[in-house]
Amino acid sequence: MAKKVLPVLEPYRERAIAVGVEVGRPTAEFTLEDSLNELCLLARTAGIEVIAMVTQKLDRPNPQTYIGSGKLEEIKALVNELDANIILFDEELSPRHLRELEKHFDENVRIIDRTALILDIFAQHAHTHEGALQVELAQYEYRLPRLTRAWTHLARQAGGGGGRAGGVGGVGLRGPGETQLEADRRDIRRRIAHLKEELEKVRAHRRQYRRRRKKSGIPVAALVGYTNAGKSTLLNTLSRANVYVADQLFATLDPTTRRVVLPSHNEILLTDTVGFIQKLPAHLIAAFRATLEEIAEADILLHVLDISQPIARQQAQAVFQTLQEIGADHLPIFTVLNKIDLLSDPEQVVRMMGQYPNSVAISALTGLGIEELTHKLDEFLFRRRHPIAVEIPPRESHLVNLISDEGCIERIAYVGNKVRIEGWIVGRHLAKYTPYLCQTGHEEMEFVGRAPDERVSE
Ligand code: GTP
Repeated sequence: MAKKVLPVLEPYRERAIAVGVEVGRPTAEFTLEDSLNELCLLARTAGIEVIAMVTQKLDRPNPQTYIGSGKLEEIKALVNELDANIILFDEELSPRHLRELEKHFDENVRIIDRTALILDIFAQHAHTHEGALQVELAQYEYRLPRLTRAWTHLARQAGGGGGRAGGVGGVGLRGPGETQLEADRRDIRRRIAHLKEELEKVRAHRRQYRRRRKKSGIPVAALVGYTNAGKSTLLNTLSRANVYVADQLFATLDPTTRRVVLPSHNEILLTDTVGFIQKLPAHLIAAFRATLEEIAEADILLHVLDISQPIARQQAQAVFQTLQEIGADHLPIFTVLNKIDLLSDPEQVVRMMGQYPNSVAISALTGLGIEELTHKLDEFLFRRRHPIAVEIPPRESHLVNLISDEGCIERIAYVGNKVRIEGWIVGRHLAKYTPYLCQTGHEEMEFVGRAPDERVSE
């Protein structure tokens, strides 16, 4: 049974003022309003009611309080007027900003940033042992440099710390001459070290499992996408499995893998994992490294995009950004334009399909387009011959044999200590070659499934 990480926030008792700050020039991606609206959804998922929103545009953040002094006074007045007990920032605040801001408010008003909020949602949704360990690690890594009165407040909230994961926050005995804060920090460091050891054990197990899976030779497709795009619903529809689906952000945290039989009777393994979001906290990416590695090792990505969202394009961009951060941007991508049942204008589907090569329009909920998706996957993975020009280093010499067995070598030459091959390979092996693609040879690699301006790595 996984250890439950105690959520920091008390659902439904929290009344927040959301604060969005645009620093520098606006980006072409999420606007201040888009981002704040998303923050409100996140807040609702965590059981917080946002009762007011405040925005500010700054050339650079105030070194002390992040926002300007006038805005700070405005927020203070709102807190009193609306009886708010949380100020929720849409950015990650540095430990210094957090400390300085806290000085301006009573103890019963808590300053929380987007990262803390996302970590809290993850803590509520982590169900497996590995998920819980990863979230707990991310939470402590985030909190350690920020340990101030917020912590003592939380320690009290947790009822003396008896049930608190890891026993930090009030249970650590103080050493001689040590302040409570120092004792808390020492306890957290110890807990972090322990969590890392535990995670290493889980990862060793995972590596073993992955090796076995690779030996089986069944191609792995990883579902990726913005949170709430419909990945779990698609996994359910394709595999008729019963994966937890909810109209909530980050309903799924732990990787779930199901076998899916394609029309040709060939099988694939379909993996659903954590959803992405813009400004995904670095601590979470680090803590979820093992989970995210699953994505980077897949043979194909199915990018599920909720095209009923007016900001679908920005969400797609945030997904590509994260794929790049986790080293999965070289993989072949199918874009699955989901929730078409919610669209009133069919032209929108046609437009989006034109923007994303290798795309299929579906409704994971009603099943519309699912047959076409499975046929296209079948075709891509098992039938189509993908032209490639690659330079293979000596450590990957098995790939030379593989292409001669499962594809065709049209030209071969030695370039330094590498073997240069031009030829073709079937789709299920394509991902193994993409890290070694070279520029010359076939001009346009058809498998790159993203719109031209979204090729973040180029
Ligand atoms: P995370 O766990 O946050 O990453 O979400 P997810 O991408 O796994 O989304 P999930 O499958 O949980 O679906 C989110 C919500 O969208 C649920 O309420 C689904 O019922 C709904 N949904 C999914 N696909 C469709 C669809 O094709 N049409 C409609 N109308 N709703 C859908």
